[in-house]
Amino acid sequence: MDRSSSGAGEGRGARPTAHELARYEALFASRTRSMKSSAMREMMALTERPDVISLAGGLPDTTTFEPELYAKLMSHVAAESTARALQYGPTDGMTATVDCIVEVMAAEGTLIDPSEVIVTTGGQQVIDLVCKALIDPGDVIVAEAPTYPGAVPTFGAYQAEVAQIEMDSDGMPIEELEIVLDRLQARGRRPKFIYTIPNFQNPGGVTMSLARRRRLVELARERELLVLEDNPYGLLRYEGEPLPTLYSLDAEVLGSGGGADLVIYLGTFSKILSPGLRLGWAVAPRPVLEKLNLGKQGADLCSSPVTQLFVAAYFNERDPGGGRRWRAYLEQLKVLYSRRRDVMLEALADHFADDARWTKPQGGLFIWATLDERIDTTDLLALARESQGVAFVPGRAAYVDGRSGSSSMRLNFAGVPEEDIREGMRRIGKVVREQLSLIGTLSGSVPSSRNLARGAAEREPGTPPGGEAAQVDRGVAGGGLRAASPGAGQDAGPGGDDSGLADVVALPRRASEGSARRRRDR
Ligand SMILES: Cc1ncc(COP(=O)(O)O)c(C=O)c1O
Repeated sequence: MDRSSSGAGEGRGARPTAHELARYEALFASRTRSMKSSAMREMMALTERPDVISLAGGLPDTTTFEPELYAKLMSHVAAESTARALQYGPTDGMTATVDCIVEVMAAEGTLIDPSEVIVTTGGQQVIDLVCKALIDPGDVIVAEAPTYPGAVPTFGAYQAEVAQIEMDSDGMPIEELEIVLDRLQARGRRPKFIYTIPNFQNPGGVTMSLARRRRLVELARERELLVLEDNPYGLLRYEGEPLPTLYSLDAEVLGSGGGADLVIYLGTFSKILSPGLRLGWAVAPRPVLEKLNLGKQGADLCSSPVTQLFVAAYFNERDPGGGRRWRAYLEQLKVLYSRRRDVMLEALADHFADDARWTKPQGGLFIWATLDERIDTTDLLALARESQGVAFVPGRAAYVDGRSGSSSMRLNFAGVPEEDIREGMRRIGKVVREQLSLIGTLSGSVPSSRNLARGAAEREPGTPPGGEAAQVDRGVAGGGLRAASPGAGQDAGPGGDDSGLADVVALPRRASEGSARRRRDR
Protein backbone atom coordinates (compact mmCIF):
# COMPACT_ATOMS: atom_id res chain seq x y z
CA MET A 1 0.00 0.00 0.00
CA ASP A 2 1.09 3.51 -0.77
CA ARG A 3 2.03 4.81 2.66
CA SER A 4 1.29 8.40 1.84
CA SER A 5 -2.29 7.49 0.92
CA SER A 6 -2.81 5.38 4.06
CA GLY A 7 -1.90 8.28 6.25
CA ALA A 8 0.91 6.26 7.80
CA GLY A 9 3.50 8.69 6.56
CA GLU A 10 2.07 11.57 8.60
CA GLY A 11 3.52 10.37 11.84
CA ARG A 12 2.06 8.34 14.70
CA GLY A 13 -1.41 9.38 15.69
CA ALA A 14 -1.98 11.47 12.54
CA ARG A 15 -5.62 11.39 11.46
CA PRO A 16 -6.54 10.06 8.04
CA THR A 17 -8.05 12.58 5.64
CA ALA A 18 -11.63 12.26 4.40
CA HIS A 19 -10.23 11.17 1.05
CA GLU A 20 -8.18 8.41 2.65
CA LEU A 21 -11.13 7.22 4.73
CA ALA A 22 -13.41 7.05 1.70
CA ARG A 23 -11.29 4.27 0.24
CA TYR A 24 -12.10 1.98 3.17
CA GLU A 25 -15.62 3.22 3.90
CA ALA A 26 -17.49 0.20 2.55
CA LEU A 27 -15.49 -2.14 4.73
CA PHE A 28 -16.19 -0.56 8.09
CA ALA A 29 -18.81 -2.02 10.42
CA SER A 30 -21.79 0.25 11.06
CA ARG A 31 -20.78 0.55 14.73
CA THR A 32 -17.70 2.49 13.70
CA ARG A 33 -19.97 5.37 12.77
CA SER A 34 -20.86 5.84 16.41
CA MET A 35 -17.25 5.55 17.54
CA LYS A 36 -15.88 8.91 18.54
CA SER A 37 -12.31 9.64 19.38
CA SER A 38 -11.89 10.04 23.07
CA ALA A 39 -10.73 13.49 24.04
CA MET A 40 -8.05 11.43 25.74
CA ARG A 41 -6.32 10.51 22.50
CA GLU A 42 -5.49 14.12 21.77
CA MET A 43 -4.68 14.74 25.41
CA MET A 44 -2.21 11.90 25.63
CA ALA A 45 -0.43 13.25 22.56
CA LEU A 46 -0.24 16.66 24.22
CA THR A 47 1.30 15.31 27.38
CA GLU A 48 4.25 14.15 25.34
CA ARG A 49 5.00 17.67 24.09
CA PRO A 50 7.51 19.32 26.42
CA ASP A 51 6.47 22.84 25.41
CA VAL A 52 2.89 22.37 26.61
CA ILE A 53 1.76 22.54 30.23
CA SER A 54 -0.93 19.92 30.23
CA LEU A 55 -3.58 20.08 32.91
CA ALA A 56 -5.56 17.78 30.67
CA GLY A 57 -4.57 14.18 31.29
CA GLY A 58 -5.94 11.92 33.98
CA LEU A 59 -2.39 11.42 35.09
CA PRO A 60 -1.07 10.65 38.52
CA ASP A 61 2.52 11.71 39.19
CA THR A 62 4.64 8.64 38.48
CA THR A 63 7.87 10.58 39.09
CA THR A 64 7.19 10.04 42.78
CA PHE A 65 7.79 6.30 42.53
CA GLU A 66 11.34 5.48 43.64
CA PRO A 67 13.43 4.27 40.68
CA GLU A 68 15.38 1.95 43.03
CA LEU A 69 12.19 0.28 44.17
CA TYR A 70 10.99 -0.10 40.60
CA ALA A 71 14.32 -1.72 39.65
CA LYS A 72 14.22 -3.97 42.70
CA LEU A 73 10.69 -5.20 41.98
CA MET A 74 11.43 -5.80 38.32
CA SER A 75 14.60 -7.72 39.23
CA HIS A 76 12.62 -9.74 41.74
CA VAL A 77 10.05 -10.69 39.10
CA ALA A 78 12.81 -11.52 36.65
CA ALA A 79 14.79 -13.62 39.12
CA GLU A 80 11.96 -15.41 40.90
CA SER A 81 9.31 -15.86 38.23
CA THR A 82 10.93 -15.74 34.80
CA ALA A 83 8.83 -18.46 33.22
CA ARG A 84 5.54 -17.38 34.82
CA ALA A 85 6.11 -13.74 33.98
CA LEU A 86 6.80 -14.57 30.35
CA GLN A 87 3.90 -17.05 30.06
CA TYR A 88 0.16 -16.49 29.44
CA GLY A 89 -1.78 -16.25 32.67
CA PRO A 90 -5.32 -17.17 33.66
CA THR A 91 -8.01 -14.94 32.13
CA ASP A 92 -9.42 -14.01 35.53
CA GLY A 93 -6.00 -13.07 36.87
CA MET A 94 -3.21 -14.52 38.98
CA THR A 95 -3.99 -15.48 42.57
CA ALA A 96 -1.15 -13.35 43.93
CA THR A 97 -2.63 -10.26 42.23
CA VAL A 98 -6.16 -11.05 43.38
CA ASP A 99 -4.80 -11.18 46.95
CA CYS A 100 -3.55 -7.59 46.49
CA ILE A 101 -6.97 -6.58 45.19
CA VAL A 102 -8.63 -8.09 48.27
CA GLU A 103 -6.25 -5.95 50.35
CA VAL A 104 -7.05 -2.75 48.45
CA MET A 105 -10.76 -3.43 48.72
CA ALA A 106 -10.39 -3.99 52.46
CA ALA A 107 -8.68 -0.59 52.66
CA GLU A 108 -11.85 0.76 51.00
CA GLY A 109 -13.81 -0.91 53.81
CA THR A 110 -15.18 -3.50 51.40
CA LEU A 111 -14.96 -7.24 51.92
CA ILE A 112 -15.04 -9.32 48.78
CA ASP A 113 -14.92 -12.93 47.74
CA PRO A 114 -11.72 -13.44 45.69
CA SER A 115 -13.60 -15.84 43.42
CA GLU A 116 -15.77 -12.90 42.27
CA VAL A 117 -12.81 -10.89 40.96
CA ILE A 118 -11.50 -10.60 37.43
CA VAL A 119 -8.17 -8.84 36.81
CA THR A 120 -8.37 -6.60 33.77
CA THR A 121 -6.15 -4.52 31.54
CA GLY A 122 -6.93 -1.29 33.39
CA GLY A 123 -10.26 -0.17 34.69
CA GLN A 124 -10.99 1.02 31.17
CA GLN A 125 -11.30 -2.60 30.10
CA VAL A 126 -13.98 -3.15 32.74
CA ILE A 127 -16.12 -0.45 31.13
CA ASP A 128 -15.57 -2.06 27.77
CA LEU A 129 -16.29 -5.60 29.00
CA VAL A 130 -19.42 -4.54 30.87
CA CYS A 131 -20.72 -2.90 27.69
CA LYS A 132 -19.71 -5.94 25.66
CA ALA A 133 -21.63 -8.18 28.04
CA LEU A 134 -24.74 -6.05 28.49
CA ILE A 135 -25.27 -3.61 25.65
CA ASP A 136 -27.05 -4.26 22.38
CA PRO A 137 -27.35 -1.31 19.97
CA GLY A 138 -29.95 1.11 21.27
CA ASP A 139 -29.84 -0.13 24.87
CA VAL A 140 -29.92 2.53 27.54
CA ILE A 141 -27.20 3.40 30.05
CA VAL A 142 -27.82 6.04 32.71
CA ALA A 143 -24.74 8.08 33.61
CA GLU A 144 -23.85 11.21 35.49
CA ALA A 145 -23.47 14.53 33.73
CA PRO A 146 -20.67 15.28 33.27
CA THR A 147 -19.28 11.76 33.02
CA TYR A 148 -15.86 10.16 32.61
CA PRO A 149 -14.66 11.29 29.14
CA GLY A 150 -13.00 7.91 28.59
CA ALA A 151 -16.35 6.11 28.97
CA VAL A 152 -18.07 8.26 26.35
CA PRO A 153 -16.41 6.62 23.31
CA THR A 154 -16.91 3.15 24.82
CA PHE A 155 -20.62 3.75 25.21
CA GLY A 156 -20.66 5.07 21.65
CA ALA A 157 -18.79 2.06 20.28
CA TYR A 158 -21.48 -0.26 21.65
CA GLN A 159 -24.19 2.02 20.24
CA ALA A 160 -25.73 2.65 23.62
CA GLU A 161 -28.19 5.46 24.23
CA VAL A 162 -26.99 7.36 27.26
CA ALA A 163 -29.24 9.35 29.57
CA GLN A 164 -27.05 11.73 31.53
CA ILE A 165 -28.29 13.13 34.82
CA GLU A 166 -26.74 16.40 35.91
CA MET A 167 -24.98 16.22 39.24
CA ASP A 168 -24.95 18.71 42.04
CA SER A 169 -22.53 18.95 44.92
CA ASP A 170 -23.76 15.63 46.36
CA GLY A 171 -23.30 13.72 43.13
CA MET A 172 -26.17 12.28 41.10
CA PRO A 173 -29.54 13.38 42.51
CA ILE A 174 -31.36 10.09 43.00
CA GLU A 175 -34.79 11.67 42.89
CA GLU A 176 -33.97 12.84 39.37
CA LEU A 177 -32.73 9.39 38.51
CA GLU A 178 -36.10 8.05 39.60
CA ILE A 179 -37.91 10.47 37.33
CA VAL A 180 -35.77 9.35 34.41
CA LEU A 181 -36.34 5.70 35.24
CA ASP A 182 -40.11 6.26 35.42
CA ARG A 183 -40.11 7.95 32.06
CA LEU A 184 -38.06 5.20 30.54
CA GLN A 185 -40.38 2.64 32.03
CA ALA A 186 -43.38 4.43 30.56
CA ARG A 187 -41.79 3.77 27.20
CA GLY A 188 -41.11 0.16 28.02
CA ARG A 189 -37.40 0.78 28.44
CA ARG A 190 -35.11 -0.26 31.22
CA PRO A 191 -31.48 0.79 31.46
CA LYS A 192 -28.95 -2.00 31.27
CA PHE A 193 -26.92 -0.30 33.97
CA ILE A 194 -26.39 2.89 35.89
CA TYR A 195 -22.83 4.16 35.60
CA THR A 196 -21.51 6.20 38.49
CA ILE A 197 -18.18 7.41 39.85
CA PRO A 198 -19.18 8.10 43.44
CA ASN A 199 -15.84 9.36 44.79
CA PHE A 200 -14.18 12.60 43.59
CA GLN A 201 -15.89 12.14 40.31
CA ASN A 202 -13.97 12.39 37.07
CA PRO A 203 -14.43 15.04 35.79
CA GLY A 204 -16.76 16.77 38.27
CA GLY A 205 -14.65 16.39 41.41
CA VAL A 206 -17.79 15.85 43.52
CA THR A 207 -18.63 12.95 45.84
CA MET A 208 -21.95 11.17 46.19
CA SER A 209 -23.38 11.66 49.68
CA LEU A 210 -24.04 8.71 51.96
CA ALA A 211 -27.79 9.24 51.83
CA ARG A 212 -27.71 9.11 48.05
CA ARG A 213 -25.51 6.02 48.06
CA ARG A 214 -28.02 4.25 50.27
CA ARG A 215 -30.93 5.40 48.16
CA LEU A 216 -29.23 4.39 44.93
CA VAL A 217 -28.66 0.87 46.21
CA GLU A 218 -32.23 0.72 47.48
CA LEU A 219 -33.53 1.88 44.13
CA ALA A 220 -31.40 -0.63 42.27
CA ARG A 221 -32.87 -3.36 44.47
CA GLU A 222 -36.45 -2.10 44.07
CA ARG A 223 -36.12 -2.07 40.31
CA GLU A 224 -33.59 -4.87 39.78
CA LEU A 225 -31.08 -2.61 38.08
CA LEU A 226 -27.36 -3.14 37.75
CA VAL A 227 -25.00 -0.39 38.88
CA LEU A 228 -21.45 -0.03 37.59
CA GLU A 229 -19.51 1.61 40.41
CA ASP A 230 -16.32 3.09 38.97
CA ASN A 231 -13.99 3.85 41.86
CA PRO A 232 -10.39 4.67 40.87
CA TYR A 233 -10.04 7.50 43.39
CA GLY A 234 -11.68 6.31 46.64
CA LEU A 235 -8.36 5.90 48.46
CA LEU A 236 -7.12 9.33 47.35
CA ARG A 237 -9.13 11.23 49.94
CA TYR A 238 -7.49 14.41 51.32
CA GLU A 239 -10.15 15.44 53.80
CA GLY A 240 -13.43 14.27 55.27
CA GLU A 241 -14.53 10.80 56.27
CA PRO A 242 -14.40 7.91 53.80
CA LEU A 243 -17.81 6.77 52.61
CA PRO A 244 -18.83 3.16 52.05
CA THR A 245 -18.72 1.79 48.53
CA LEU A 246 -22.00 1.06 46.78
CA TYR A 247 -20.75 -2.50 46.55
CA SER A 248 -20.49 -2.84 50.33
CA LEU A 249 -23.87 -1.17 50.84
CA ASP A 250 -25.51 -3.57 48.43
CA ALA A 251 -23.85 -6.54 50.15
CA GLU A 252 -25.02 -5.16 53.51
CA VAL A 253 -28.62 -4.85 52.37
CA LEU A 254 -28.46 -8.36 50.95
CA GLY A 255 -27.30 -9.47 54.36
CA SER A 256 -26.00 -12.91 53.43
CA GLY A 257 -22.43 -12.05 54.45
CA GLY A 258 -21.46 -12.49 50.79
CA GLY A 259 -20.89 -10.07 47.94
CA ALA A 260 -23.24 -7.63 46.26
CA ASP A 261 -25.57 -8.92 43.60
CA LEU A 262 -26.52 -5.75 41.76
CA VAL A 263 -23.32 -3.70 41.89
CA ILE A 264 -20.40 -4.34 39.57
CA TYR A 265 -17.34 -2.75 41.12
CA LEU A 266 -14.51 -1.32 39.02
CA GLY A 267 -11.11 -0.79 40.63
CA THR A 268 -7.66 0.01 39.30
CA PHE A 269 -4.01 0.21 40.32
CA SER A 270 -3.60 3.19 37.98
CA LYS A 271 -4.07 5.98 40.50
CA ILE A 272 -2.68 4.38 43.65
CA LEU A 273 0.37 2.92 41.94
CA SER A 274 0.80 3.31 38.18
CA PRO A 275 -1.31 3.51 35.03
CA GLY A 276 1.60 2.11 33.02
CA LEU A 277 1.03 -1.30 34.58
CA ARG A 278 -2.40 -1.37 32.91
CA LEU A 279 -4.02 -3.34 35.69
CA GLY A 280 -7.51 -2.96 37.03
CA TRP A 281 -10.27 -5.27 38.18
CA ALA A 282 -13.95 -5.93 38.45
CA VAL A 283 -15.82 -7.54 41.30
CA ALA A 284 -19.13 -8.81 40.01
CA PRO A 285 -21.95 -11.25 40.67
CA ARG A 286 -20.98 -14.64 39.29
CA PRO A 287 -23.27 -14.70 36.23
CA VAL A 288 -21.97 -11.29 35.15
CA LEU A 289 -18.40 -12.29 35.96
CA GLU A 290 -18.70 -15.26 33.65
CA LYS A 291 -19.70 -13.01 30.74
CA LEU A 292 -16.90 -10.55 31.51
CA ASN A 293 -14.49 -13.46 31.44
CA LEU A 294 -15.77 -14.63 28.05
CA GLY A 295 -15.49 -11.11 26.73
CA LYS A 296 -11.96 -10.78 28.00
CA GLN A 297 -10.91 -14.03 26.37
CA GLY A 298 -11.86 -12.47 23.04
CA ALA A 299 -10.16 -9.18 23.87
CA ASP A 300 -6.73 -10.13 25.21
CA LEU A 301 -6.80 -13.65 26.78
CA CYS A 302 -5.27 -12.31 29.98
CA SER A 303 -3.72 -9.20 31.47
CA SER A 304 0.05 -9.02 31.55
CA PRO A 305 1.58 -11.54 34.00
CA VAL A 306 4.70 -9.34 34.13
CA THR A 307 2.83 -6.46 35.69
CA GLN A 308 0.59 -8.71 37.78
CA LEU A 309 3.69 -10.21 39.39
CA PHE A 310 5.15 -6.73 39.79
CA VAL A 311 2.08 -5.70 41.80
CA ALA A 312 2.30 -8.85 43.91
CA ALA A 313 5.96 -8.13 44.69
CA TYR A 314 5.14 -4.51 45.51
CA PHE A 315 2.39 -5.46 47.94
CA ASN A 316 4.85 -7.72 49.75
CA GLU A 317 7.14 -4.76 50.46
CA ARG A 318 7.31 -3.46 54.00
CA ASP A 319 8.64 -0.08 55.11
CA PRO A 320 11.33 0.07 57.84
CA GLY A 321 8.66 0.19 60.56
CA GLY A 322 7.08 -3.00 59.23
CA GLY A 323 4.08 -1.21 57.69
CA ARG A 324 2.83 -1.91 54.20
CA ARG A 325 4.85 0.07 51.72
CA TRP A 326 1.95 0.58 49.33
CA ARG A 327 0.02 2.30 52.12
CA ALA A 328 2.98 4.58 52.85
CA TYR A 329 3.25 5.50 49.17
CA LEU A 330 -0.46 6.24 49.09
CA GLU A 331 -0.06 8.59 52.05
CA GLN A 332 2.81 10.31 50.23
CA LEU A 333 0.62 10.77 47.14
CA LYS A 334 -2.21 12.16 49.24
CA VAL A 335 0.03 14.81 50.81
CA LEU A 336 1.41 15.79 47.41
CA TYR A 337 -1.90 15.88 45.58
CA SER A 338 -3.79 17.70 48.28
CA ARG A 339 -1.12 20.43 48.24
CA ARG A 340 -1.41 20.65 44.47
CA ARG A 341 -5.18 20.83 44.73
CA ASP A 342 -4.80 23.79 47.08
CA VAL A 343 -2.36 25.46 44.72
CA MET A 344 -4.82 25.06 41.87
CA LEU A 345 -7.70 26.39 43.95
CA GLU A 346 -5.60 29.43 44.81
CA ALA A 347 -4.64 29.90 41.17
CA LEU A 348 -8.29 29.66 40.16
CA ALA A 349 -9.15 32.37 42.65
CA ASP A 350 -6.29 34.53 41.34
CA HIS A 351 -6.88 34.13 37.63
CA PHE A 352 -10.50 33.10 37.20
CA ALA A 353 -12.14 34.73 40.14
CA ASP A 354 -14.60 36.98 38.38
CA ASP A 355 -15.55 34.81 35.51
CA ALA A 356 -15.97 31.30 36.76
CA ARG A 357 -17.16 28.84 39.35
CA TRP A 358 -15.50 25.58 40.22
CA THR A 359 -15.65 22.54 42.42
CA LYS A 360 -13.50 21.96 45.48
CA PRO A 361 -12.82 18.24 45.52
CA GLN A 362 -12.06 16.41 48.76
CA GLY A 363 -9.86 13.98 46.87
CA GLY A 364 -9.02 12.58 43.45
CA LEU A 365 -7.27 14.40 40.64
CA PHE A 366 -9.71 16.87 39.10
CA ILE A 367 -11.41 20.22 39.40
CA TRP A 368 -14.33 21.10 37.14
CA ALA A 369 -14.50 24.78 36.29
CA THR A 370 -17.31 26.55 34.48
CA LEU A 371 -16.67 29.86 32.76
CA ASP A 372 -18.84 32.64 31.43
CA GLU A 373 -21.42 30.86 29.28
CA ARG A 374 -20.34 32.76 26.15
CA ILE A 375 -17.01 31.00 26.17
CA ASP A 376 -16.73 27.71 24.36
CA THR A 377 -13.91 25.76 25.96
CA THR A 378 -13.34 23.62 22.87
CA ASP A 379 -12.41 26.79 20.95
CA LEU A 380 -10.60 28.09 23.99
CA LEU A 381 -8.46 24.96 24.11
CA ALA A 382 -7.31 25.48 20.53
CA LEU A 383 -6.31 29.04 21.38
CA ALA A 384 -4.73 28.11 24.67
CA ARG A 385 -2.60 25.44 23.05
CA GLU A 386 -1.47 27.57 20.15
CA SER A 387 -0.91 30.89 21.84
CA GLN A 388 -0.08 29.87 25.41
CA GLY A 389 1.08 26.25 25.30
CA VAL A 390 -1.38 25.05 27.91
CA ALA A 391 -4.08 22.37 27.78
CA PHE A 392 -7.17 21.17 29.67
CA VAL A 393 -10.07 18.87 28.81
CA PRO A 394 -12.98 20.82 27.31
CA GLY A 395 -16.28 20.10 29.02
CA ARG A 396 -17.99 18.69 25.95
CA ALA A 397 -15.82 15.57 26.18
CA ALA A 398 -17.80 14.61 29.26
CA TYR A 399 -21.19 14.72 27.54
CA VAL A 400 -22.45 12.16 25.07
CA ASP A 401 -24.22 14.75 22.93
CA GLY A 402 -20.92 16.50 22.27
CA ARG A 403 -22.57 19.90 22.87
CA SER A 404 -23.33 20.30 26.53
CA GLY A 405 -20.68 21.33 29.00
CA SER A 406 -19.35 23.75 26.41
CA SER A 407 -18.28 26.43 28.85
CA SER A 408 -16.73 24.03 31.34
CA MET A 409 -13.31 22.46 31.59
CA ARG A 410 -11.64 19.66 33.51
CA LEU A 411 -8.37 20.55 35.18
CA ASN A 412 -5.95 17.95 36.54
CA PHE A 413 -4.03 19.21 39.55
CA ALA A 414 -2.24 15.97 40.47
CA GLY A 415 0.06 15.22 37.56
CA VAL A 416 2.04 18.47 37.32
CA PRO A 417 4.35 20.35 39.69
CA GLU A 418 3.10 23.38 41.60
CA GLU A 419 4.96 25.91 39.40
CA ASP A 420 3.32 24.42 36.32
CA ILE A 421 -0.10 24.57 37.93
CA ARG A 422 0.39 28.27 38.71
CA GLU A 423 1.83 29.08 35.32
CA GLY A 424 -0.73 26.94 33.48
CA MET A 425 -3.62 28.62 35.27
CA ARG A 426 -2.12 32.06 34.65
CA ARG A 427 -1.99 31.26 30.94
CA ILE A 428 -5.53 29.90 30.80
CA GLY A 429 -6.73 32.97 32.72
CA LYS A 430 -5.05 35.20 30.15
CA VAL A 431 -6.75 33.49 27.20
CA VAL A 432 -10.10 33.63 28.97
CA ARG A 433 -9.77 37.37 29.56
CA GLU A 434 -8.75 37.93 25.95
CA GLN A 435 -11.73 35.92 24.75
CA LEU A 436 -14.15 37.80 26.97
CA SER A 437 -12.83 41.10 25.82
CA LEU A 438 -13.14 40.00 22.18
CA ILE A 439 -16.70 38.77 22.74
CA GLY A 440 -17.48 42.07 24.45
CA THR A 441 -16.07 44.07 21.56
CA LEU A 442 -17.96 42.05 18.96
CA SER A 443 -21.23 42.27 20.84
CA GLY A 444 -20.74 45.98 21.45
CA SER A 445 -20.63 45.69 25.24
CA VAL A 446 -17.22 45.42 26.75
CA PRO A 447 -17.74 43.35 29.87
CA SER A 448 -15.49 44.35 32.67
CA SER A 449 -14.44 41.68 35.10
CA ARG A 450 -16.15 43.66 37.81
CA ASN A 451 -19.48 43.54 35.99
CA LEU A 452 -19.17 39.84 35.47
CA ALA A 453 -18.39 39.38 39.11
CA ARG A 454 -21.34 41.48 40.15
CA GLY A 455 -23.55 39.62 37.71
CA ALA A 456 -22.68 36.37 39.35
CA ALA A 457 -23.17 37.72 42.83
CA GLU A 458 -26.55 39.26 42.08
CA ARG A 459 -28.03 36.18 40.53
CA GLU A 460 -30.28 34.06 42.70
CA PRO A 461 -28.08 31.31 44.12
CA GLY A 462 -28.74 28.23 42.08
CA THR A 463 -29.30 30.19 38.90
CA PRO A 464 -26.38 30.60 36.55
CA PRO A 465 -26.20 32.97 33.60
CA GLY A 466 -29.01 31.98 31.27
CA GLY A 467 -31.36 31.05 34.06
CA GLU A 468 -30.76 27.32 34.22
CA ALA A 469 -30.79 25.68 37.60
CA ALA A 470 -27.25 25.19 38.71
CA GLN A 471 -24.75 25.61 41.44
CA VAL A 472 -23.10 28.98 41.12
CA ASP A 473 -21.18 29.18 44.36
CA ARG A 474 -17.65 30.00 43.38
CA GLY A 475 -14.98 27.87 44.82
CA VAL A 476 -17.17 26.24 47.46
CA ALA A 477 -17.02 22.57 48.16
CA GLY A 478 -18.51 20.66 45.33
CA GLY A 479 -20.18 23.66 43.71
CA GLY A 480 -20.05 24.80 40.17
CA LEU A 481 -21.61 22.00 38.18
CA ARG A 482 -24.12 22.90 35.55
CA ALA A 483 -27.59 21.58 35.92
CA ALA A 484 -29.77 19.97 33.31
CA SER A 485 -31.44 22.34 30.94
CA PRO A 486 -34.30 20.75 29.08
CA GLY A 487 -32.90 18.49 26.45
CA ALA A 488 -29.35 19.61 26.98
CA GLY A 489 -26.50 17.46 28.05
CA GLN A 490 -28.60 14.40 28.03
CA ASP A 491 -29.54 12.23 25.21
CA ALA A 492 -27.38 10.93 22.51
CA GLY A 493 -28.42 8.11 20.38
CA PRO A 494 -25.72 6.38 18.41
CA GLY A 495 -25.38 9.32 16.07
CA GLY A 496 -25.46 11.84 18.87
CA ASP A 497 -28.61 13.45 17.51
CA ASP A 498 -31.53 14.89 19.43
CA SER A 499 -33.95 12.02 18.99
CA GLY A 500 -34.51 9.25 21.46
CA LEU A 501 -34.19 10.08 25.12
CA ALA A 502 -34.31 13.87 25.11
CA ASP A 503 -37.78 14.19 26.62
CA VAL A 504 -37.10 11.33 29.00
CA VAL A 505 -34.37 13.23 30.72
CA ALA A 506 -35.69 16.79 30.47
CA LEU A 507 -36.30 17.09 34.16
CA PRO A 508 -38.81 19.46 35.67
CA ARG A 509 -37.52 22.01 38.16
CA ARG A 510 -38.88 21.63 41.61
CA ALA A 511 -39.28 24.33 44.19
CA SER A 512 -36.84 22.61 46.53
CA GLU A 513 -34.15 22.32 43.89
CA GLY A 514 -32.25 25.52 44.60
CA SER A 515 -31.75 24.77 48.26
CA ALA A 516 -30.94 21.11 47.65
CA ARG A 517 -28.30 22.13 45.16
CA ARG A 518 -26.70 24.52 47.58
CA ARG A 519 -25.99 21.80 50.08
CA ARG A 520 -22.30 21.38 50.63
CA ASP A 521 -20.53 18.39 49.31
CA ARG A 522 -19.51 15.82 51.86
C1 LIG B 1 -13.42 7.24 36.30
C2 LIG B 1 -12.38 6.44 35.60
N1 LIG B 1 -12.64 5.19 35.23
C3 LIG B 1 -11.75 4.43 34.62
C4 LIG B 1 -10.50 4.92 34.31
C5 LIG B 1 -9.54 4.02 33.60
O1 LIG B 1 -8.36 3.88 34.24
P1 LIG B 1 -7.34 2.71 33.96
O2 LIG B 1 -7.75 2.02 32.70
O3 LIG B 1 -6.01 3.35 33.84
O4 LIG B 1 -7.45 1.81 35.13
C6 LIG B 1 -10.17 6.23 34.65
C7 LIG B 1 -8.88 6.82 34.29
O5 LIG B 1 -8.62 7.97 34.37
C8 LIG B 1 -11.13 6.99 35.33
O6 LIG B 1 -10.89 8.25 35.71
